[in-house]
Amino acid sequence: MQPQPLNYTNAAILAPMVRIGTLPVRLMALEYGADLVYTPEVVDRGIVGCERVVNEDNGTIDYLSKGVSIFRTHPSEKSKLVFQIGSANADLALQAALTVAQDVSTIDLNCGCPKRFSIHGGMGAALMEEPEKLCGILKNLVDNCGLPVTCKIRIFPDRERTLKLVKMIEATGIRALAVHCRYRDERPREPGHWDRFKEIVDAVSIPVIANGDIKEYADMARIRELSGCAGVMIARGAEANVSIFRKEGRLPHMDIVRQYIRRMFVEDTKSPYYRPLCDAKSFRAVCKVFEMEDEFDSWTKKQEEHGWPTDLDNPPRKAAEAKEKEAKAANVKAKTKNDKVADVKMAEVVAESTLGKRKQDDLKEEEEEKVVVATASVSVSAGEVDGTPAAKKHAAGDGASSQPTPADTPQPDVETEVETISTTSTPLA
Ligand SMILES: Cc1cc2nc3c(=O)[nH]c(=O)nc-3n(C[C@H](O)[C@H](O)[C@H](O)COP(=O)(O)O)c2cc1C
Repeated sequence: MQPQPLNYTNAAILAPMVRIGTLPVRLMALEYGADLVYTPEVVDRGIVGCERVVNEDNGTIDYLSKGVSIFRTHPSEKSKLVFQIGSANADLALQAALTVAQDVSTIDLNCGCPKRFSIHGGMGAALMEEPEKLCGILKNLVDNCGLPVTCKIRIFPDRERTLKLVKMIEATGIRALAVHCRYRDERPREPGHWDRFKEIVDAVSIPVIANGDIKEYADMARIRELSGCAGVMIARGAEANVSIFRKEGRLPHMDIVRQYIRRMFVEDTKSPYYRPLCDAKSFRAVCKVFEMEDEFDSWTKKQEEHGWPTDLDNPPRKAAEAKEKEAKAANVKAKTKNDKVADVKMAEVVAESTLGKRKQDDLKEEEEEKVVVATASVSVSAGEVDGTPAAKKHAAGDGASSQPTPADTPQPDVETEVETISTTSTPLA
């Protein structure tokens, strides 16, 4: 009997992403509304021979190679989990699939990776150049692994060639096809070819999953309407903020960081990091746990020097709120000014008569301050006060047009940084 495939109709799917699609991210994607999640590609040889260990402390299942975790999963994701294999060999692909079969729902073959590592090994997008080999691997998996099998491809510039390939692939008995709408040599910054999905959807009767350049929640409905695809798969949009799957809108980064850290341990309360991280209420506190306060402080200092926001929570929102507050205050001030001119005048008279001497002293101090400020600005324009690029730029006469913007300074990528401290597997890819 054929294994039951996953339900792809209207599915929102977390794409396979090496280094990113770790267990915490997959669990969060599911929590935020993704229907299915892919593991990062794991190369066949990387997983074959791994020891399967149930981690009694945190409930995870770890696949270990010489003590190193190659793949970590949790039973709660099994019914939605697609395990992606990188392979150029039908036997090894099958062995890899059988190794993890009891903990995942579907096996996917990566036929779209254009990276040198994959291509040189005859894997990824190289398989699209050898359709017989590609289909041989899929057929072996379909016939023998006991799970539904799917595959992920790119497109050829040639439409006919693409349609011929997808029909061959469908004939192997796979249960769904994910299509990344770029050519092998196209980079992510180049726009995807959304117009190519429909003809593929029309050419096959298995569910097609559209992937490429889907950056907003609303894009998912648009692409479904445009192409008739069954599911929609998101990679970089989820890398930037995994709460992209929430229909109510994305959450602030800080919430994501906290959630990631919680999931990172999946109830691994014995870890020495667990309690301090759960208690951390700021990004600095997170850095402190990992002895990275110095890095955090020097970054903050640099931001402050330029008057840029230092809160990672949601700087644009905070800035907008501050502006709004300022505008409101100015309005109130103007209104009060009109209403209370007489009162103010009276107050001034009283102040002059009672605080005459203090006022004179204040004025004197103000004059002295003006001299100090004037001296300092002369030094700054000569580039003498400090050697920061901003001061030098200013000194060089670039003026306002060359003032650095926040985009000029590398902003820490919160999720990526936290990712590097994850205890989950780093699949070979
Ligand atoms: C960091 C990163 C890692 C990726 N790793 C994989 C992978 O392991 N397997 C795969 O098939 N595609 C991988 N991809 C490609 C994505 O799954 C997806 O096809 C591509 O990024 C286009 O989707 P997007 O426009 O939503 O980013 C990766 C992409 C990124 C950004």
